[in-house]
Amino acid sequence: MKEKLNILLLGSGGRESALAWKIAQSARLGNLYVAPGNAGTAQWNIPVAPTDFEAVKAEVEARCIDMIVVGPEQPLVDGIYDYFAQEMPAVKVIGPSKAAARLEGSKEFAKEFMARNVIPTARFMSVTEDTLDEGLHFLEALQPPYVLKADGLAAGKGVIILDSLADAKDTLSEMLGGMFGNASATVVIEEYLSGLECSVFVLTDGEHYKILPVAKDYKRIGDGDTGPNTGGMGSVSPVPFADEEFMEKVRSRIVEPTLAGLRRENLTYKGFIFLGLMNKGGEPYVIEYNVRMGDPETQSVMPRIGADILELFEGVAEGTLNLKPMTADRRAVASVVLVSGGYPGSYEKGKAISGLEDVASDDGTIVFHAGTKEGPDGMTLTSGGRVLAVTAYGDDIPAAVAAARRGADKITFEGAYHRSDIGSDLIALLPKD
Ligand code: AMP
Ligand code: GLY
Repeated sequence: MKEKLNILLLGSGGRESALAWKIAQSARLGNLYVAPGNAGTAQWNIPVAPTDFEAVKAEVEARCIDMIVVGPEQPLVDGIYDYFAQEMPAVKVIGPSKAAARLEGSKEFAKEFMARNVIPTARFMSVTEDTLDEGLHFLEALQPPYVLKADGLAAGKGVIILDSLADAKDTLSEMLGGMFGNASATVVIEEYLSGLECSVFVLTDGEHYKILPVAKDYKRIGDGDTGPNTGGMGSVSPVPFADEEFMEKVRSRIVEPTLAGLRRENLTYKGFIFLGLMNKGGEPYVIEYNVRMGDPETQSVMPRIGADILELFEGVAEGTLNLKPMTADRRAVASVVLVSGGYPGSYEKGKAISGLEDVASDDGTIVFHAGTKEGPDGMTLTSGGRVLAVTAYGDDIPAAVAAARRGADKITFEGAYHRSDIGSDLIALLPKD
């Protein structure tokens, strides 16, 4: 590949801000563009929708892009990898092919892939309207709570966990009846796994792989993991229980069989694999695959990657990832997400944000923008539910969390809210001295 690479990064959230931050540090970077980006990436933004492949192609041609890095899942599930492989093969897309992106695009496909490849996961049955009776019987044979998942993409809302069998049966019928439109025409019923969750990210060129720093995210809106699910309220890396012994199990039972399965099934994959894992009594199980980085995990993972990310991406594109060195920063990183009042329900936009400069000047603290836009007179305004991810390094998890929280407390906008217990479950697991 060329010495200097022109990069187009697709997406507009906190994840993309963190990817842009890392890419901008690369010695291999020519020009960077982010489509469509947010106020934090304003210097690189171009106004293009990531799912409009023809518009993306026009930009790639006009700006001599060498590589496209895809943040969100939708363009991958829609087949952006295959589109460019066909239309502009010299341009490398970091991501899976459309066929491989079904690992996220269809829960049924993912579960059947795991069953075929003997990858540990919860017992399941997938059900349609025609097989509702079998589904009801399967539910009866499970212990509560009951896990129901819409097969297709449902903006992170397609998983419902119910305590009573009667509610689970009703909800199964409602989902099949169109609760999530076509996405729930098929529903996966799963056995409930209890344990501690973590997010493991794998970067692969299809043959070789690297496991990135492990992170944990916090999905519920309220302290103590209460209230409705959100896109993610914070993240921490590393994860104390993801020790060498656990990660060796992840590697041998999950990562390697996944890559072997992809190869055997001719599913081209050159990008990130996100394993949502449950640690059940020391044994890893796959809760879900995603075909992209996590948000807000990326905000804690990117700062810990000791490597030039474009060198890694070049390895992915050329099948030489094994030749690219990577280390993990020994410091911990925590990220606290500031959200708009009312989120994940309805919320107002356009609130002026203050305090950003105070935090940016703190050593070891980074503010990644998510739902922000530039207002008049250089003001930064809120424009989404998740607004900012205040991210900080620390010598250990408590120090990183404290620094991120200090930063989050300095930023204000009308209705601003953040959790005050990010990482506290992990801190409780640390040895006491
Ligand atoms: P997903 O969208 O698949 O990540 O599911 C959302 C959340 O539901 C996960 O992060 C878990 O907390 C929970 N979940 C999903 N599947 C299961 C399961 N089989 N057992 C327990 N919890 C689950
Ligand atoms: N943080 C979970 C996700 O990105 O899906």
